[in-house]
Amino acid sequence: MRTLNTIAATRQQVAAWRHAGERIAFVPTMGNLHEGHIHLVTEAKRVADRVVCSIFVNPMQFGPNEDFERYPRTLADDSTKLEQVNSDLLFAPPVEEIYPSGYKVATQVVVPGVSEGLCGSSRPGHFTGVATVVAKLFNIVQPDIALFGEKDYQQLQVIHHMVADLSFPIEIIGVSTVREADGLAMSSRNGYLSVAERSTAPAIYRELQKVAGRIQSGARDFRAIENDAAAELARQGFDPEYVTIAHADTLKPAGIGDKALRILVAARLGKTRLIDNLALSLLE
Ligand code: PAF
Repeated sequence: MRTLNTIAATRQQVAAWRHAGERIAFVPTMGNLHEGHIHLVTEAKRVADRVVCSIFVNPMQFGPNEDFERYPRTLADDSTKLEQVNSDLLFAPPVEEIYPSGYKVATQVVVPGVSEGLCGSSRPGHFTGVATVVAKLFNIVQPDIALFGEKDYQQLQVIHHMVADLSFPIEIIGVSTVREADGLAMSSRNGYLSVAERSTAPAIYRELQKVAGRIQSGARDFRAIENDAAAELARQGFDPEYVTIAHADTLKPAGIGDKALRILVAARLGKTRLIDNLALSLLE
């Protein structure tokens, strides 16, 4: 695997592969790789000839009181993991390469609608930071395909909308969430949990399944179901931010007629903010 730190060298390598007729898949990450990321890379390998990964902890998507400074930077370990699954190129730029004049004065990509509400409410500017850096990375790597984990479901929808609105010639693939044996969704932030919090954390996935079960058994008062689930999470020691039964594409609160649903949760456990979601189709 080649590791490159500049835009110019990355473009040159990808252009050579493209010239040879190869299909390029791209997996953007912020590093601290876990099995969820590795699954994205192995899926990418299945659908393309070459896989490019990026590791860039993007300052633009962190709020002033968030974990940008303490976000784990584990480049050597990450690089070994990527080698093991035959990633072809790692693009790991320094911040100045991506934001030469600083991210605060950089052009921004705003995706209205789907980026509002849910995590967009408590993390103002987050999805603008994500859409901006992903647009830049797409322009640098120019992949045919890009893969994103469904754990960050709102992010995935933001990317789908951005790609459609800005006519990026890139196929976006959402890859299902990889879970620990007890159901906890893999996340770089799980490492922040204390031992006690770690044993409480799988309650989020259990609650998602309970909500899905109630709807499947015919319950249709979505707002009451959301409130019950949030109350149960609070009882178990979480500080729930939202439990929302949403339309799967628009992420607006679901109504009775909606068939493709997504149940989404964000909750704090101590200092750690956890998110998870579950698909639910009511189609016969
Ligand atoms: O999901 C992530 O790790 C990040 O939000 C992404 C897509 C790499 C953009 O910085």
